[in-house]
Amino acid sequence: MISYSNIRFFNLIFLFIFIHSLSTCCQSTVIFNNSNYEFSVSENEIPGEIGLIFATSSDGAQLLYSITNGNIGERFMIDTNSGNLFTNIPLNYEIFKQHNLTVQASTGNISNTTNVTIFVINIDDISPICESYSYHIYVSDDTPHDPPQFILNLSCSDIDSMSLSYSILAGNDDSNFELVENTLNLVSALNYTLQTNYSLTIRVSDNATTALSLEVRIVVLPDVELPPVFTQDGVYSLFLFENSTLEDILQVSLTTSYISSLDVIQYSLLSGDLYSQFSINSSTGVLSLRSSLDRETIANYTLSIMAFDQSVYPIAIRTVLATVLITVLDINDNDPMFDPDDLVITISIDTPLNSQFSTLLCSDPDSGENSIIASYSLTNEYIRINSSSGDLFTTGTPFPLDSGPQLTHQVNVECVDLGTPARTGFALLEISVRHSNIHSPQFSESSLTFEFEENVYVLGRNIFQVCYK
Ligand SMILES: *[C@@H]1O[C@H](CO)[C@@H](O)[C@H](O)[C@H]1NC(C)=O
Ligand SMILES: *[C@@H]1O[C@H](CO)[C@@H](O)[C@H](O)[C@H]1NC(C)=O
Ligand SMILES: *[C@@H]1O[C@H](CO)[C@@H](O)[C@H](O)[C@H]1NC(C)=O
Ligand SMILES: *[C@@H]1O[C@H](CO)[C@@H](O)[C@H](O)[C@H]1NC(C)=O
Ligand SMILES: *[C@@H]1O[C@H](CO)[C@@H](O)[C@H](O)[C@H]1NC(C)=O
Ligand SMILES: *[C@@H]1O[C@H](CO)[C@@H](O)[C@H](O)[C@H]1NC(C)=O
Ligand SMILES: *[C@@H]1O[C@H](CO)[C@@H](O)[C@H](O)[C@H]1NC(C)=O
Ligand SMILES: *[C@@H]1O[C@H](CO)[C@@H](O)[C@H](O)[C@H]1NC(C)=O
Ligand SMILES: *[C@@H]1O[C@H](CO)[C@@H](O)[C@H](O)[C@H]1NC(C)=O
Ligand SMILES: *[C@@H]1O[C@H](CO)[C@@H](O)[C@H](O)[C@H]1NC(C)=O
Ligand SMILES: *[C@@H]1O[C@H](CO)[C@@H](O)[C@H](O)[C@H]1NC(C)=O
Ligand SMILES: *[C@@H]1O[C@H](CO)[C@@H](O)[C@H](O)[C@H]1NC(C)=O
Repeated sequence: MISYSNIRFFNLIFLFIFIHSLSTCCQSTVIFNNSNYEFSVSENEIPGEIGLIFATSSDGAQLLYSITNGNIGERFMIDTNSGNLFTNIPLNYEIFKQHNLTVQASTGNISNTTNVTIFVINIDDISPICESYSYHIYVSDDTPHDPPQFILNLSCSDIDSMSLSYSILAGNDDSNFELVENTLNLVSALNYTLQTNYSLTIRVSDNATTALSLEVRIVVLPDVELPPVFTQDGVYSLFLFENSTLEDILQVSLTTSYISSLDVIQYSLLSGDLYSQFSINSSTGVLSLRSSLDRETIANYTLSIMAFDQSVYPIAIRTVLATVLITVLDINDNDPMFDPDDLVITISIDTPLNSQFSTLLCSDPDSGENSIIASYSLTNEYIRINSSSGDLFTTGTPFPLDSGPQLTHQVNVECVDLGTPARTGFALLEISVRHSNIHSPQFSESSLTFEFEENVYVLGRNIFQVCYK
């Protein structure tokens, strides 16, 4: 049974436990007076106070404030005692648009943190930047203008401005051109007879600090009905010696009615230059050698050159091709060479005097006369060479009868080609002279017949001795 007094007793116990737990678990708290803090600071502003972070501790203890996170580059500081937040250095919108700090307030025993966001207000402090400040373009006077014909995009940007404004300040007296944002269009017909060039001054503004001015020079080309053509029907032949130095080798030029006065053609090397040995000057069309030639490696080249008319309209018919055939001429840059297989010879000492026993052969990778062998030569007592055929002969002097089975003679041999200047190949010929005492053995008689009487006891006895000399 549970009586009323029992219930009261239990209530007292529960109340005691409740009070006890309150005082142990929640000694004190640190509470900020805002759930989070947001401030705005203009970029480039002189460093100074931003605002106050304010917290209270439930036990009234003194709070100390500090920035515990997000203070990149020490841009901020907080007054430890007051919670006043400051900038240390001017802020820059182009670097950080927003800073996210964590600020702590602490009694020493307990602490709490809050999030502080500082928004940087953009000030238009950076000038626009353009890819080019001076454009040079060509427009044919047969370029259509209705609807407005695109001519050029001006390419400018500004990192702290959403939009740039463009306007033509000067040079557009007859209103031939219009600007739609960054796009320059032709809106009325040009006439080469009346005006050959325009110089437009264009203002680019970021609507704040700075305005820039650009120049657009427009050169009017007379109405050309035919595409430009290469001279010589676009086929050029070149003969280059292998020893050609790295210099200009050819100027390919185009003929058109206006080409003489204007540099509107751009040349490029399209194909045929597998090893990047040539280059072309894109504005003059001068072809140059970049590395030396070797006829023995590549004897000829077929280069394809493209000329591109840079005038704005119409582009399609203004690309023409030319072919440059380059034949590499031989120079005598290789020595003739003996066939190494010919250079080790074994002959018998019995080789008759004044007889041919072998032939030497030289070859030369050059071409024409540079590859022809003019003569062979050697100086030796026992052998001689036919200067035109390379045939080797013994002389009238027999090889010496030295001891030993074999004697090796080393003889310097030379061959000379027909080139001018001629080149000489050198080699060492090794002739081993085999002596006759190592000739294969021979029986003194080619056959022998033995006769024995019947019943003669021959077992184990010598009957004949076979020997060779
Ligand atoms: C920290 O602040 C939050 C909200 O302001 C509060 O609920 C919490 O009790 C605080 N913590 C301490 C340890 O004071
Ligand atoms: C927080 O405290 C600061 C300093 O006393 C005061 O300026 C601010 O208005 C307070 N904010 C709120 C929401 O009470
Ligand atoms: C602050 O936070 C915002 C949103 O999360 C972020 O875009 C910005 O980069 C942060 N700023 C810094 C300095 O990290
Ligand atoms: C920290 O708490 C202890 C007891 O809980 C107290 O004696 C001491 O004064 C407190 N220190 C601070 C800095 O509040
Ligand atoms: C502070 O910011 C962090 C990270 O953005 C977030 O997790 C946390 O809840 C924020 N605290 C407050 C009190 O808003
Ligand atoms: C020129 O710029 C406009 C917009 O800025 C773009 O739509 C157009 O494609 C550009 N034209 C060329 C040829 O770059
Ligand atoms: C260009 O101007 C000349 C001289 O005024 C004129 O004779 C010619 O017809 C004009 N050309 C065009 C295509 O309008
Ligand atoms: C540009 O035009 C002016 C006259 O308008 C002329 O004197 C000048 O020679 C022209 N320049 C070129 C490069 O055509
Ligand atoms: C230029 O600035 C003015 C005022 O400062 C503003 O009204 C206008 O919209 C801005 N224009 C552009 C293109 O930014
Ligand atoms: C290249 O070789 C040719 C033919 O052998 C010769 O006439 C010319 O002088 C040489 N040029 C150079 C630069 O050596
Ligand atoms: C192309 O030739 C012109 C005129 O000789 C010269 O000024 C320019 O530097 C040359 N370009 C190159 C890339 O060699
Ligand atoms: C070009 O060289 C190749 C081998 O390199 C040869 O077969 C061809 O006949 C040569 N052509 C001319 C025109 O010399």
